[in-house]
Amino acid sequence: MSRRVTLNLGFEGHLQPVTVVIPDDEPTPWQWGERFEIVGKPTPRVDGALKATGAARYTYDISLPGMLYGAILRSPYPHARIKSVDLSRARRLSGVRAAIRMDDTVARFAGQEVAAVAAIDYETALDALRLIKVEYEELPFVVDLDMAMMPGAVSVFENGSNVQRPTVNEHGDIKRGLAAAAAVHEAVYATPVQTHVSLEVHGSVAEWDGDELTVWSSSQGIFTVRDDLAVYFSLPHNKVRVITEYLGGGFGSKFGAKPETVIAARLAREARAPVKVMLTREGEHLATGNRPDSLQKVRLGADRGGKLTAIELVQHGSGGIGAGSGSAGPFLSLYHSPNLRTEETNVFMNTGPSSPMRAPGWPQGCFALELAMDELARKLSLDRLEFRRLNNSNPVRALEFDIGAKLFGWKEKSAAPKSSGPFKRGIGVASAAWHALGVSGPQAQVIAYRDGRVQVVIGTQDIGTGTRTILAMVAAEELGVELARIECQIGDTGYPFSVPSGGSMTTPSTTPAVRQACAHLKEKLLRLAAPVLGAEPSDLEARGGTIRVRFDPSRKMSFEDVCRRIPGDSLSAEGERVPNYEGYRKDQAGCQFAEVEVDTELGIVRVLKVVAVHDAGQIIDPLTARSQVNGGVLMGVGYALFETRRMDPQLGIMVNPTMDDYKLVGPLDVPEIDVRFVEVANGFNNTGVMGFGEPAHVATAAAIGCAVYDAIGVPVRSLPMTPDRVLAAMETKA
Ligand code: MOS
Repeated sequence: MSRRVTLNLGFEGHLQPVTVVIPDDEPTPWQWGERFEIVGKPTPRVDGALKATGAARYTYDISLPGMLYGAILRSPYPHARIKSVDLSRARRLSGVRAAIRMDDTVARFAGQEVAAVAAIDYETALDALRLIKVEYEELPFVVDLDMAMMPGAVSVFENGSNVQRPTVNEHGDIKRGLAAAAAVHEAVYATPVQTHVSLEVHGSVAEWDGDELTVWSSSQGIFTVRDDLAVYFSLPHNKVRVITEYLGGGFGSKFGAKPETVIAARLAREARAPVKVMLTREGEHLATGNRPDSLQKVRLGADRGGKLTAIELVQHGSGGIGAGSGSAGPFLSLYHSPNLRTEETNVFMNTGPSSPMRAPGWPQGCFALELAMDELARKLSLDRLEFRRLNNSNPVRALEFDIGAKLFGWKEKSAAPKSSGPFKRGIGVASAAWHALGVSGPQAQVIAYRDGRVQVVIGTQDIGTGTRTILAMVAAEELGVELARIECQIGDTGYPFSVPSGGSMTTPSTTPAVRQACAHLKEKLLRLAAPVLGAEPSDLEARGGTIRVRFDPSRKMSFEDVCRRIPGDSLSAEGERVPNYEGYRKDQAGCQFAEVEVDTELGIVRVLKVVAVHDAGQIIDPLTARSQVNGGVLMGVGYALFETRRMDPQLGIMVNPTMDDYKLVGPLDVPEIDVRFVEVANGFNNTGVMGFGEPAHVATAAAIGCAVYDAIGVPVRSLPMTPDRVLAAMETKA
């Protein structure tokens, strides 16, 4: 059964009533301007103290009686036939309880898992690895994108070319668009491989009980880990349980059961004891996935007025032995052109596999497109922000440009004279986009106990963004009680199903399920209170820690008093996340402004300030929302200036797989970050939430790239913008 509700959709100044059809048991969606008691108020994390004191249990902290420690032997060669693996000496070492080899007979990247052992302590396991005898037959390899693309290049997979069939998107006629242009810009842009570097490395603890498997895993998708393990071990899904209480970061590489998780479970089965396998930092860099690199040939054309007539991208990129390096997303959606063509080609090489990483493909594409936009704007003598406004067709972004420009001081900074000394300042702006509206599937259970406590139970996981806090706030709001009354239980496949924490969809997918469950629980509580208050349940509301008569709030009972009347032990209700309603806009906008200072003698770039303006639906907790954007920006600063996987072309190995040599953003590199949200009443679900973990990261490196161009007058077309590249670019100017 369904009903119709009319919602005010759009954003400030652009709201329109829209009638949407929603299922009967769905609570009326929160409306634009809804008055909340808890939602929307900056709220510190409910588990902040647990994290700060070390009491929060991460997979790394799991310790079971009799638990063994696993270690993994990795291929030292980028390409080799594995002729034999002799585990016998390792097995004989005192303290070793299990030793296994992988099924693969060919290693295709340096770092690929070859064998593994479990022992009574980690040091013994490392000793045992040294006793494993592997006979390799080294094969030719390729670890460089240009070389992998050459005719006659070494084949990564025996059966064919490294260069895959391209994916083409087009509309209009690109030739005609270029011919019609008053100015054309063409250049090649390059971005590096970025590794994930989650603070908590990948890893799992596996324990068998007969044919039942329990796994604690550092995972952003407990149900996908469960499903992968069930398939691997041919077990019914209900015989595998996966738990992730706390997770030290996940950006797309922690979805399913990765090799280390399967290895932990295999070793545990052989040893008949629980086994913990946490990767080394080196293993983390080499084998757990990465953001592919790219070479992007861009052609843009615009008419005299600054309207784009052509957008063209020919992209190649490598995810190592993995696929999915495409970067066309921003080209297809940030700016409008009647003629557009993108061609994305994945190239294989003998390096670790790619994995999704915070808006897969978008930061790459955004950097190339936005820097090209600036280069074309210069040819047309147009203000770069004005050029973007002219070609932007998203009304929310138009507003975001205004808000951001004002906050940032675009006009004033544009007019300011460039310094004559060695330190040059520059500014840049770039657009972001995404589509994080959430999906159906999650289910939640909410239980009220006779002592007035409420438990929210849902099998989602917190990748570190504050999921427990968000869900508790939604539950407290719906039930009209204080936050402290709510306890969230998450991170266990024994709980009702939820989706992986990816695609920026955790909050928009889980909050509506929890809210619906709370609405159902509330109905039951109102029915308990109604006879006491001498009113119909439909005349009652739950607010301010009470259940009260709507038109006569003096007739009320405390929430606790109502709970005391629960027959038996507790009262429970369920809710589900229903499919998205019709909604307002499926695309999310966003833009970021950056100011940099370049030391033109040393080539060092410092990011001084970033203003980030992003679409948001209903913001549940402004504090965690801002943290989310701060994180996206910081990761973008690292991508712009520091992070890169360096391969030795002679040896085919990564030369910087450590925290020392793979440079991340440090405290002194952090710019001033100003975050603003434009609230959009999207009307897709009952909480009106949109995610922004990914869009917050899309535009940062691009905006910084544009700012560096502005500062030194020449574009640095390759990331990261290291001092050598900045200086080399400046040489071309002279
Ligand atoms: Mo993300 S790349 O969906 O974790």
